[in-house]
Amino acid sequence: MSGPRVIVAADPEAVAAAAADRISVILAGAVAARGRAHLATTGGSTPVEVYRRLGGSPLRDVVPWADLDVWWGDDRFVRRGDPLSNVTAFDEVLLGESSVELASDRIHPFPVDESVDAGEDPDRCAARLADELGAVGLAQSDGWPVLDLIILGVGSDGHVLSVFPGSSAFDATEWALGIPAPTHIEPHVPRVTLNPAIVTVARHVLVLVSGASKANVVADILGGPRDTRRLPARLAVRPDATWVLDEAAASKLPG
Ligand code: 6PG
Repeated sequence: MSGPRVIVAADPEAVAAAAADRISVILAGAVAARGRAHLATTGGSTPVEVYRRLGGSPLRDVVPWADLDVWWGDDRFVRRGDPLSNVTAFDEVLLGESSVELASDRIHPFPVDESVDAGEDPDRCAARLADELGAVGLAQSDGWPVLDLIILGVGSDGHVLSVFPGSSAFDATEWALGIPAPTHIEPHVPRVTLNPAIVTVARHVLVLVSGASKANVVADILGGPRDTRRLPARLAVRPDATWVLDEAAASKLPG
């Protein structure tokens, strides 16, 4: 199997610029092909600058906002607006600072507020999100919903989504699931996540990694055997994936 496309950019700013260009092209292509684009975005530090670029000139006029549905690959089980929520940067930067207009029924965060209000646990919250995914009529592959683009960050332990090394999520059949608070990685709060299998059927995957602290794990993920349970980010080592690394994160890659 051929590997992913790997782009090395100078620094985190350049990673965000390359990522935003690629995102706008993929989303425009999805709308041209199917009339609608489904994006799953991520948390972590990288999306902030990506959102700024998508919401600013010239990409603002390229992204097909009116035909876009936005989902999250994972989130912390905290209310929308909480600094720990993966939705907060999207709300503050894209909808706030950049004033991009997106219909609220096309923005699909994990419904943590509804679940907390109803006294539900993360599993039930994830089930609500899975129902919402089921209701939009996505194509399926092997029973999994096919998103047009999933953006992923990589944790220092090699996790993607909220799927940590050794996660039982690899055996789950639900489209989305609750994850107990990890003890080895911050923040130590319960999570909700898409099933890792959804990464393997997405039309495109875009992985964004910056910083020297990720250099060893990136080299291990891109250079090692395909044991996804030990290093979940290996799910994204596939031909339709693009990895955008800054020079620091790429510094341990051979050649
Ligand atoms: C988490 C983290 C994590 C994050 C990666 C990449 O909840 O465990 O937020 O999933 O996406 O660690 O983060 P950076 O983009 O900040 O490197």
